[in-house]
Amino acid sequence: MSSSFAEDLQLALGQRPRSISPKYFYDEIGSALFEQICDLPEYYPTRTELGLLQAHAAEMAECIGPQAQLLEYGAGALQKVRCLLDRLEAPHSFVPIDISGAHLLSACGQLQAAYPTLQINPLVADFSRPHSLPQGSGKGPRVGFFPGSSIGNFTPLEALAFLKMAAFELRGGGLLIGIDLIKDPAILHAAYNDSAGVTAAFNLNLLARARRELGADIARDGFVHSAFYNSALQRIEMHLMSLKRQTLRIAERVYEIDAGETLHTENSHKYSVVGFQSLAAQAGFSPGASWTDPREWFSLLWLQAPA
Ligand code: AVI
Repeated sequence: MSSSFAEDLQLALGQRPRSISPKYFYDEIGSALFEQICDLPEYYPTRTELGLLQAHAAEMAECIGPQAQLLEYGAGALQKVRCLLDRLEAPHSFVPIDISGAHLLSACGQLQAAYPTLQINPLVADFSRPHSLPQGSGKGPRVGFFPGSSIGNFTPLEALAFLKMAAFELRGGGLLIGIDLIKDPAILHAAYNDSAGVTAAFNLNLLARARRELGADIARDGFVHSAFYNSALQRIEMHLMSLKRQTLRIAERVYEIDAGETLHTENSHKYSVVGFQSLAAQAGFSPGASWTDPREWFSLLWLQAPA
């Protein structure tokens, strides 16, 4: 049974440590805040990955091959895929998969206007869960595109489970995936603690969403954004930290939280190229070409799926 925001938030507040899936960030306001994050001076991943796509799309298209059915996992604004679409030889179709239906359909409308002959088959689904895909042509491969380093928002175990599912779904084709690389923690810290406070607003929107959608009684000024690098686990952790001892009410339930205690809202795992390639190999992929920016902050990896 698929769980809902209300159930998962109640579960999260009732357990220790308190922790909830970052997928609940992405309501309409959260998705718009995330787009603002991507343009922040401190948030280098989007710009760096776009630079790699612009510089190397021809080589990536070569790996993908002609007449591909291209899937995008967790499609957002559908900007990055344009670099590939401009270079692909006779793509069969494009299947963006995203949980946020309204956002996905509006992005597809804009993409269709720019690529009028492209067959676009949007799929509103949680891409990490089983989903059924439209048929490809049978002539070209099925290829996944997973940009943005969103794989980092899974734990390594969850990432492995996703990669296994993708290896099966993409058999005979491949996966082009973006990963954020391990780097100076100061750079990471700045990227998740921007001076304009957009990442803080993105994190705090989770509680605002609970007030809006669930009528939750959670004081507006009771929590602050907390993001730090956990070097042992090579990940940024985002939390909502309680500023005082307080009581939260959701529906009929009551939850107590002490000053300094947190709700863990997101992990953003950082990888090395070889570390990620070995995780992908455990899922059955054969690592191929990779593209990394000169500062070695971000990589795109081509992974060949099993036959
Ligand atoms: C979507 N994901 C890859 C972003 C990240 O960097 O982990 C989400 C994000 N959280 C805070 N800033 C951006």
